[in-house]
Amino acid sequence: MSGGVYGGDEVGALVFDIGHYALRAGYAGEDSPKAQIPSVVGVLEQAASVEMMDVDRIKEAAPASEKKYFIDTVALNVAKQDLEIVGYLKDGMIEDWDIFEKILNYTYAKCIKSESEFHPVLMSEAPWNTRAKREKLTEIMFEKYNVPAFYLVKNAVLAAFANGRSTGIVVDSGSTHTSAVPVYDGYVLSQGIVKSPLGGDFLTMQCKQLLEGKDIEVVPPYMIAAKEAVKDFEKPKWTRKSNLPEVTKSWHNYMMKEVIRDFQSTALQVADAPYDEETVSTIPMVHYEFPNGYHQDFGCERFKIPEALFDPSSIKGVGNTMLGVGHVVTTSVGMCDIDLRPSLYGNVIVTGGNSLLLGFSDRLNRDLSAKTPQSMRLKIISASGSGERRFGAWIGGSILASLGSFQQMWISKQEYEEGGKTQVERKCP
Ligand SMILES: Nc1ncnc2c1ncn2[C@@H]1O[C@H](COP(=O)(O)OP(=O)(O)OP(=O)(O)O)[C@@H](O)[C@H]1O
Ligand SMILES: [Mg+2]
Repeated sequence: MSGGVYGGDEVGALVFDIGHYALRAGYAGEDSPKAQIPSVVGVLEQAASVEMMDVDRIKEAAPASEKKYFIDTVALNVAKQDLEIVGYLKDGMIEDWDIFEKILNYTYAKCIKSESEFHPVLMSEAPWNTRAKREKLTEIMFEKYNVPAFYLVKNAVLAAFANGRSTGIVVDSGSTHTSAVPVYDGYVLSQGIVKSPLGGDFLTMQCKQLLEGKDIEVVPPYMIAAKEAVKDFEKPKWTRKSNLPEVTKSWHNYMMKEVIRDFQSTALQVADAPYDEETVSTIPMVHYEFPNGYHQDFGCERFKIPEALFDPSSIKGVGNTMLGVGHVVTTSVGMCDIDLRPSLYGNVIVTGGNSLLLGFSDRLNRDLSAKTPQSMRLKIISASGSGERRFGAWIGGSILASLGSFQQMWISKQEYEEGGKTQVERKCP
């Protein structure tokens, strides 16, 4: 390979995909990201003089009261008094730049294990990212991280590329939302973006309510010293760890959420037709054991909870104001030029961690078939591997940044120095 000035395998461009659940980071040209770092950090605020030994803490010079950050799964999972859990994103966009930088510093130091000035960076962004935030990010990457080149791409475009398409409608079901984003020839058609707040976090909340309603106590592993084997439905026998530190509500909730997320991804399944108790009750139950040893079979509720994604009318109170996944897609396509619709329906690209729910793509196919004219060719494209689906945008970035023809696309350091942060508007559509 001849290689350009920037990017390409030999100079190791980096790809960062930002999401509410995690930041995915790794080298362009590789099949999957090197690391997936939770998009929340633990923050501990205390007087400035405490000795620091933990390698996962990023040390920063700070005034009177000092904030310590605990980043990545291992550091986050240790119970500590007063440790608060905070995120840095809002509606898919960076809101707290300090925390974002802390996570990025950690990523370079512990995952990439290299200096930022040696690697061009391709980053994903929400399709609705604002101009001010794009420019600020560009400025930070060049000024603080001193990157040799930078590029921003909408995550939907990257997910389409990962599935070998430059045109299609990208249905992304992540943790905070499910969106439909029309992509044409590698460009997002922003007038057609449709979002619904029903994603993985919503299901986590529904599962929590279900378990509370059934009087199943969710106990995070950090509280458990020992447990005994019990029979199905039997009261769990477990002992609590002694001398646990007094943890914050936000940290405890985060630990609970992790347990429920596991339940959610193991037990839930989307029914292949609108939920019907009779049909669903003939499907084998799924056995699930919680960390405290309690276990039982789950039946109808496995289908009832994710049904809300496709038919929100079942959600108490707000149901009628929200769109199910099928509706999100048809509304989005409906806002695009009539001539483009066949190429969108012909390439419905499914991506995002929440789309890994068993039955998600099949149900979407069914609901869309019912809503589109017979003559419309409908094709759902969903990678079969779970990695490809979870890392769709990252993989698209990995492919793009290593293409020879892409190398002229980067905003180079020189261009930034000459043209400033507005270069991002000129070069990254
Ligand atoms: N195997 C699985 N089955 C069901 N759900 C899963 C599975 N794996 C991950 N999830 C859910 O997917 C969600 C995370 O998806 P993803 O990584 O696409 O989100 P994100 O891009 O970080 O967030 P967002 O798109 O909201 O910014 C979480 O809610 C998680 O519980
Ligand atoms: Mg996402």
